[in-house]
Amino acid sequence: MKNELVIVLDFGGQYNQLIARRVREEKVYCEVLPYKTSLDQIRAKEPKGIIFTGGPNSVYDPASPHYDKAIFELGIPILGICYGSQLMAYELGGSVATAPTREYGKTEVRTSQSVLFEDVHEKTVCWMSHTDYIDRVPEGFKVTAYSKACPCAAYEDAERKLYAVQFHPEVNHTEEGQRMLHNFLYRVCKCRGDWVMKDYAKRAVMELREKIGDRKVLCALSGGVDSSVAAVMIHKAVGDRLTCVFVDNGLLRKNEGDEVETVFRKQYDINLVRVNAQERFLGRLKGAVEPEAKRKAIGEEFIRVFEAEAEKIGKVDFLVQGTIYPDVIESGAGDAAVIKSHHNVGGLPEHVDFKEIIEPLRDLFKDEVRRLGIELGLPEKFVWRQPFPGPGLAVRVIGEITEEKLDILRDADAIFREEIARAGLDRSINQYFAVITDMRSVGVMGDGRTYDYTLALRAVTTDDFMTADWARIPYDVLERTSNRIVNEVKNVNRLVYDITSKPPATIEWE
Ligand code: XMP
Repeated sequence: MKNELVIVLDFGGQYNQLIARRVREEKVYCEVLPYKTSLDQIRAKEPKGIIFTGGPNSVYDPASPHYDKAIFELGIPILGICYGSQLMAYELGGSVATAPTREYGKTEVRTSQSVLFEDVHEKTVCWMSHTDYIDRVPEGFKVTAYSKACPCAAYEDAERKLYAVQFHPEVNHTEEGQRMLHNFLYRVCKCRGDWVMKDYAKRAVMELREKIGDRKVLCALSGGVDSSVAAVMIHKAVGDRLTCVFVDNGLLRKNEGDEVETVFRKQYDINLVRVNAQERFLGRLKGAVEPEAKRKAIGEEFIRVFEAEAEKIGKVDFLVQGTIYPDVIESGAGDAAVIKSHHNVGGLPEHVDFKEIIEPLRDLFKDEVRRLGIELGLPEKFVWRQPFPGPGLAVRVIGEITEEKLDILRDADAIFREEIARAGLDRSINQYFAVITDMRSVGVMGDGRTYDYTLALRAVTTDDFMTADWARIPYDVLERTSNRIVNEVKNVNRLVYDITSKPPATIEWE
């Protein structure tokens, strides 16, 4: 049986993929299509429902995105959100006006009888972000919610199955938004909820197979979750037409290089080139102390190594990138100040001879990528890895990078990770690692004086890694970690725990 589908028609809003994600959370398959998609194409897909997204425009602006009015006659349920709700009103003969001030933020909305608001409180907090508002609904429609500043926060014609909300049900700030989307999908569109990650994986693999055909693909594998999942997916699609290049730059965590190699060679039989470029990287980093200088050096060196390998492989048609949806949004924020130059392994080498980039995870959020990884058979331990920065341990060694400091850091970090896992905290703390400072201090061990390195432990909880709080790790876990590190790792005599949030600090120390 064909999977049921809901279409999110994109009018240029910020939250379009988030809407799609919320629909998928309700176990309904969902595709985001540009508003330029023709009515015939939409009809051919036989969607169970259509959601119009928000967008930055005003419906009266002739340049603003509009849609063929015939869409309202298809008999397919439609939910308009924000701009989408204004567009529906405008197209069907209602009127939209511009308010003197924007309504923005959490707003108390009063709802009335509507299938959309079943099991939703009469007073409910919703997220508003609009200047235009609907001041008259089209004929046959009734207003089903309002706020202090917005006379029409929701309206509908239940008979024609047309619904609209001025607020954003997809964002968390709309406290009962998920329930409203659930009502639309299940009570209006009559979805059954037949979508699971397995179907997504199957479909995506099939599409990749079709697209790539018998051409060649190259993937820079970092060992991180995203590039690993992307590689495995492409491997499922085209087998040995995929070559992965894994650069061991000497800045990986303890045993990491071998672990990555084992999973990809043994478990998947993937064409894998491991480039042991430790000396090259450490040589290049000699004398580099300033964090940005380190980052730039590593970024450039990576591209050089990657290009050299790509040249050996010969002409490839596609380059794989493990870009996920939050990366797409963040890179859209073009004017933001550069706090750190993030170097993602897989960053674009300019001279590699390839035709096209494939980004198979571009529509997914991190937790969806993890679920997809499990579906594709990646080990749990691998899929639940915490993020690891492209420049690796280089940004966790303060000051100049030496082999000695790297060895100390690797051993200490491994102990910290073991203790966190043993305490069952490895899923609730989002990132945790050790940092070796450039400072030595005096200690006493046995009967003797020591003069050794101070290490810091860093552990944070965060949803998005843009802001973060320091993790309240139980003292006994910190105590065990500290004792073990000082006893088991040479040249460390002092441990400190980092208790700054981000901002004002960042997660990594450099
Ligand atoms: P900061 O230190 O900026 O880190 O608070 C936020 C998140 O990004 C990771 N990070 C990086 N990831 N390349 C990456 O791929 C980088 O250069 C990089 N620098 C930081 C960091 O580990 C944290 O998860």
